[in-house]
Amino acid sequence: MTEEAFDVLVVGSCMTDLVSQAPRLPKAGETIHGHKFFIGFGGKGANQCVQAARLGAKTAMVCKVGKDFFGDSYIQNFKDNGVHTDFVGQTSEAATGAASIIVNDAGENAIVIVAGANMLLNNEDLQKTLPSLIHAKVLVCQLEISPKTSLQALQMARESKVKTVFNPAPAIPDLDPEFYRVSDVFCCNESEAELLTGFSVASVEEAHRAAQELLRRGCGSVIITLGPQGCVVLEAQGSASKHIPTTAVTAVDTTGAGDSFIGALAFYMAYHPTIPLEEMARRANKVSGVSVQAVGTQTSFPFKKDLPPELF
Ligand SMILES: Nc1ncnc2c1ncn2[C@@H]1O[C@H](COP(=O)(O)OP(=O)(O)OP(=O)(O)O)[C@@H](O)[C@H]1O
Ligand SMILES: *[C@@H]1O[C@H](CO)[C@@H](O)[C@H](O)[C@H]1NC(C)=O
Repeated sequence: MTEEAFDVLVVGSCMTDLVSQAPRLPKAGETIHGHKFFIGFGGKGANQCVQAARLGAKTAMVCKVGKDFFGDSYIQNFKDNGVHTDFVGQTSEAATGAASIIVNDAGENAIVIVAGANMLLNNEDLQKTLPSLIHAKVLVCQLEISPKTSLQALQMARESKVKTVFNPAPAIPDLDPEFYRVSDVFCCNESEAELLTGFSVASVEEAHRAAQELLRRGCGSVIITLGPQGCVVLEAQGSASKHIPTTAVTAVDTTGAGDSFIGALAFYMAYHPTIPLEEMARRANKVSGVSVQAVGTQTSFPFKKDLPPELF
């Protein structure tokens, strides 16, 4: 058991994306020829962890992959990104999480996700991280693993006064209310805010209202990301919610933009804890704004060296 202190700990998912590009989506029983295939590293947890690491955070990933080729190559991907893999478990009970994605020439897609090993990450795995977790600065969780495990991790962090970031993605309508109470920062996008509040979130004005409602449920602060419009930030110990606009850019591929934002936010919370949350959000907007200007998910995430020094 390692007792090395990691500043950012992400408890979440790893997924291998298997992407085929074809002129159209096949019908049931049909075999068609595509023109391009590639394998990508994804999963919300892993994406967020990799973005934080690329900004210079000392990170560790807590996740479960299969004892298979994709599991081995994902572990190598973490190492290549400077993410510590002491808490990446390998199981023979399930395959590494995979998303089979077909994209047609119109840009539409059909996706099958098999969460596999991700769903086997459990309390026992979390207990092994405890010596490190108690010394971490920030813990980040999402909902691509068992919600029970996510909640447990957030609770463990809370008990050790480790700052928590919770990204309720993909959103579930019957989210356990305890999630709000254990989140220092509750960060979601428009559609997740809509699903959780039942309000329409189609404008900055509506995002302010949804943020009020989410904050009322007990989190320390709320951030709702708004694509090219940046985000809205609301703190329990603050005044009104603030719109943090960004410079809208022409997006090439927005996949993973939200994960880039959250990874950056975790980096700022760990390394610049005294700057106001609004300023962290302004900088996270800049980081994720870079990520939408290149194709792919992790492949589009910027490194510290690619970004202006004023962000650090
Ligand atoms: N066109 C854009 N121009 C500038 N910044 C952008 C653009 N799109 C997204 N961003 C940045 O990325 C952040 C997250 O984007 P968004 O709210 O779309 O998240 P998301 O819906 O979770 O992303 P995803 O596409 O991965 O599902 C935004 O808050 C913003 O800072
Ligand atoms: C919000 O994120 C989810 C993934 O959790 C994604 O499916 C959805 O398209 C996103 N919504 C917006 C408005 O970008």
